[in-house]
Amino acid sequence: MTSSDDVSLTRLEPGCDAPSVEVPCAAFRAEPFVPLTSDRRPLSEKLLWLRALVTAPRTIASIAPSSQALADAVVSRLDLGDSPHVLELGPGTGALTRALLRRGLNPGRYVGIEVRAELVEGLRTAFPDLSFVHGSALGLSELLRAADVEPTRVVASLPWSILSRVDRKACLEAAAQAIGPAGQLVTYSYVSGGIFLPARRLDREFPRVFDDVETHGVVWRNLPPAMVWSCRR
Ligand SMILES: C[S@@+](CC[C@H](N)C(=O)[O-])C[C@H]1O[C@@H](n2cnc3c(N)ncnc32)[C@H](O)[C@@H]1O
Repeated sequence: MTSSDDVSLTRLEPGCDAPSVEVPCAAFRAEPFVPLTSDRRPLSEKLLWLRALVTAPRTIASIAPSSQALADAVVSRLDLGDSPHVLELGPGTGALTRALLRRGLNPGRYVGIEVRAELVEGLRTAFPDLSFVHGSALGLSELLRAADVEPTRVVASLPWSILSRVDRKACLEAAAQAIGPAGQLVTYSYVSGGIFLPARRLDREFPRVFDDVETHGVVWRNLPPAMVWSCRR
């Protein structure tokens, strides 16, 4: 059982003054104990992450890549039914990319946008069948136009709590515009970020851009634990 199987949902209406990040009770009993040290990523990938973290801590924003538990929980919320075009924002070293492939992503319908050049290089080596663009989600509309891609699903790993409010809004609006009325965005935010004001704003800001916002409880088997979100227009 994953943590996302046994959690209550919180549906937030647009413009409502929603509560700050919730921790559903069920999330406390959802997961068996699995040591976080059971990380089987190759050393080269760990070193790549460490290098990026040391040189750009505010861009990477996490001490470790997403665990398989978090990656699977995020991707399990994505509707991949009709083999849609998928855009990933901030693939990093590919934790969620791998989860997408495990779920049957069509490689020809994927594009990842990553702002760190060395991570783009690592992604291209690790996933030769997938397409990666070096650029910032802040320029999303232009990047998609240049790449001639029209995704209807977005998986975002952006450091929401560190982005400025203006940049966060710009990224959310560009993602909403990209996916169109029938599309979907899935993402996560770190629970530890909830003690800082910007992260607490997420549950007010997401519903301003998306009509339908769901939170799916906390994945504890991640460093730091994270909350999964699913948004539709
Ligand atoms: C928390 S890490 C997540 C990495 C990976 N998806 C994972 O879950 O392990 C955030 C990622 O977003 C990238 N990133 C940060 N700001 C970005 C931006 N404006 N545009 C594109 N990628 C960005 C970082 O370089 C990093 O790879």
